[in-house]
Amino acid sequence: MTHKAVEQLVRAAGSGAAELDAVTAAMRPEQVASILIDEVLFRAGIPDNDWPVVIEVRIMTKGLTIPYFIRAAKGVPVDLIPQPSPDKRVAMRIDYDVAELARELFGSRDNLESAARATTPLPRATKAGPGSSTSPEQLAYLGAAAQAVHAVLEGCTSKAPDLAKLAVRHRSAKNGLVHRFGPRYERHLRPLRRESLRVLEIGFGGYDSAFDGGSLRMWKHYFPRSWIFGLDISDQSHLDEQRITTLRADQSDTDALVRIAGQYGPFDVVIDDGSHINEHVRSSFAALLPYVRTGGYYVIEDLWTSYRPSYGGSEDPADCGGTSLGLLKTLTDGLHHEELPVAGIGGYAAANVTGLHVYHNIAFIEKGRNTEGGVPRCPTV
Ligand SMILES: C[S@@+](CC[C@H](N)C(=O)[O-])C[C@H]1O[C@@H](n2cnc3c(N)ncnc32)[C@H](O)[C@@H]1O
Repeated sequence: MTHKAVEQLVRAAGSGAAELDAVTAAMRPEQVASILIDEVLFRAGIPDNDWPVVIEVRIMTKGLTIPYFIRAAKGVPVDLIPQPSPDKRVAMRIDYDVAELARELFGSRDNLESAARATTPLPRATKAGPGSSTSPEQLAYLGAAAQAVHAVLEGCTSKAPDLAKLAVRHRSAKNGLVHRFGPRYERHLRPLRRESLRVLEIGFGGYDSAFDGGSLRMWKHYFPRSWIFGLDISDQSHLDEQRITTLRADQSDTDALVRIAGQYGPFDVVIDDGSHINEHVRSSFAALLPYVRTGGYYVIEDLWTSYRPSYGGSEDPADCGGTSLGLLKTLTDGLHHEELPVAGIGGYAAANVTGLHVYHNIAFIEKGRNTEGGVPRCPTV
């Protein structure tokens, strides 16, 4: 799967019908269908049906019908299987026109409901069934099919999911155990959700396997039209997948950050959830802020390390010259650089940060031109 093909399809799905038709016509039908089904499997809910069933998703394109068979069993992510044998019939069939499914997955409108979708319950093979459509076994089977189809249809949409739930589902440290960052992110990032963004997260591997890449998958799910880049000190390239690219670098190496940002940026959102060493937080911010787009955010997590000497912090809040909270305090002065008596104070950040939102352990820094013009000085003010 080439990134270019995915990018073309996502962009076209957010444009008019003619653009989408032109892009799908130029690609092989199997390639388009495979990009779409990959996304459906990724976004699908975790099934709740006790009785495992197979759901068929058929994607109709250019006179072709491309079938996919999805196994849904309680508590396990859905997955593709080969076409089942006739004695293991599919329980339900979902039909989609290729353009409708592309628009539902990658379109720029919220709450798009497709008229093209058809769901068909298929009778269970009499050989394996109890022989009566009203037997308890048959009813249980139909109930399982309904639950499974619900899980698959959850994957056929880009409706706004709850970020805190996504953090738990994809196993990110952002919400659940220690942190409650979900609502903070929702507040600032939800308005950007339908845009085609480039999101960079520093630190995504987790120090143990419990959080491996979870935050990258969470962002991929939350931003249905975006590209997610993860930078980590350790090689995690096995986590690369459609719309997720991992990059290896030590965030204290600012030359590497600038090189990577030049190649993959500019970014709409940068999240620093890496080493949390105060010096690294400060130097990464200085290196990457120029590569954040106007209107974008630079987010710093785990501000508590400002107070930990083991991370280069200080237990004395006044001794903040080298800490991440000290950086935020300087940025607050920088916001008012036009009123500061000494010209040039604050440098690039002062002229390019328009807002700061500091919460318990997390800060959102808004990028933009901060040159409104200062309050004029006069002898009495
Ligand atoms: C707290 S975990 C990230 C958790 C993840 N973002 C989440 O929300 O689930 C911190 C990550 O930062 C990475 N890291 C530590 N030091 C780093 C450095 N100097 N440069 C880049 N990444 C670093 C670690 O390998 C680890 O994967």
